[in-house]
Amino acid sequence: MREVAVIGAGCTTFGEKWDTSFRNLFVEAGALALEDAGVSGEQIDAMYVGNMSAGRFIEQEHIGALIADYAGLASHHVPATRVEAACASGGLSFRQAVIAVASGLEDIVVAAGVEKMTDVGTGASVDALAGAADREWEGFAGATFPGLYAMIAQDYMHRYPLTREQLGLVAVKNHYNGARNPIAQFQQEISLDTVLKSSLVADPLRLFDCSPITDGAAAVVVAPLERAREFTDAPVRVLASAQASDTITLHDRRDISTLDATVAAGRRAFRMAGLSTSDIDMVEVHDCFTIAEICAIEDLGFCRKGEAGRFTEEGITALNGDLPVNTSGGLKACGHPVGATGIKQVYEITKQLRGEAGRRQISGAEIGMTHNVGGTGATVAVHILGV
Ligand code: COA
Repeated sequence: MREVAVIGAGCTTFGEKWDTSFRNLFVEAGALALEDAGVSGEQIDAMYVGNMSAGRFIEQEHIGALIADYAGLASHHVPATRVEAACASGGLSFRQAVIAVASGLEDIVVAAGVEKMTDVGTGASVDALAGAADREWEGFAGATFPGLYAMIAQDYMHRYPLTREQLGLVAVKNHYNGARNPIAQFQQEISLDTVLKSSLVADPLRLFDCSPITDGAAAVVVAPLERAREFTDAPVRVLASAQASDTITLHDRRDISTLDATVAAGRRAFRMAGLSTSDIDMVEVHDCFTIAEICAIEDLGFCRKGEAGRFTEEGITALNGDLPVNTSGGLKACGHPVGATGIKQVYEITKQLRGEAGRRQISGAEIGMTHNVGGTGATVAVHILGV
């Protein structure tokens, strides 16, 4: 297997982007990544595009070909493949690109993610997202994603010492980080009172415990490490790429407050990289709801079960803490265009490792991790990146 490096990264701003189409979002992110890598379109050997539900959101399928065409690469006949794993589509798109390069089959590969969610109303959007759960056993019974994660939160708070305030502090921290990220959907700091007084969505989750509905795209370019310096002075090495799956329904799980796929993917990633939790300088976790960040920190092994609330309250996960979590603002404040999120996480870690993260820069960052979840944990992708 060859070693793989990220040689360029680009991301659109995230938010409600009424003035931009799905295809233009992708083209913008792709162009930024290619420019960053100093790579021209003709040099691309293959493309992978993470996208969850363009069919439901904009009534468009056949996304791989569409993207290659609008990127101006149809006449080069570049192989372009859509990757779908609900909200983990981006993480799996990155993993496919890494596998393609590591295997020696391809050299210069674009891994991207894109979603345009706001062209339909909230109801239609929430229903499309519910397709990431089991439609027959969960969706038909009325379970939405806020509802499913609320069940996880109820179970967790019944069994472990997590207070409503500690849960809210996850959102306060992520908005603080988002306020320092120029691509974030929400760039304003919030107080704990704002979270606690926001509308109840699914008890105990309130509006500010939820990631929003978002338009956006992100792209990175990967290449064999041995060729990376042809393109950049600052290649970011892919130290591990891991993936795991679990039951799609929550009720079939051994324990709904532990995402076993996160535990498995995390362990595989640490083993592949030959590293442990103490080596990680910062981590982008999948905080689609505040409770998801609490579970992720524990399930990846950064603290014991039941400790992440205290961890958060003590500032350990803050920008200036021992383990900064979601320096981008996470899904909560940066936004969550579902197919793009996994690539945005890689974009954020790349920026951090290159020392280009501006007001949210972690000084001396050398190793970062990404954690991207599909559904309530039926698919998980974990990557470790380093300089
Ligand atoms: N956090 C903070 N503010 C939010 C927000 C969020 N998650 N979602 C919406 N807002 C804000 C909007 O900016 C808007 O503010 P404004 O009035 O100042 O412009 C206001 O709240 C109302 O926005 P609206 O779009 O009408 O909200 P909504 O009630 O339609 O949707 C949720 C709110 C929580 C239902 C929706 O964001 C949601 O479903 N989130 C979860 C998405 C999800 O499940 N993703 C997959 C996870 S696996």
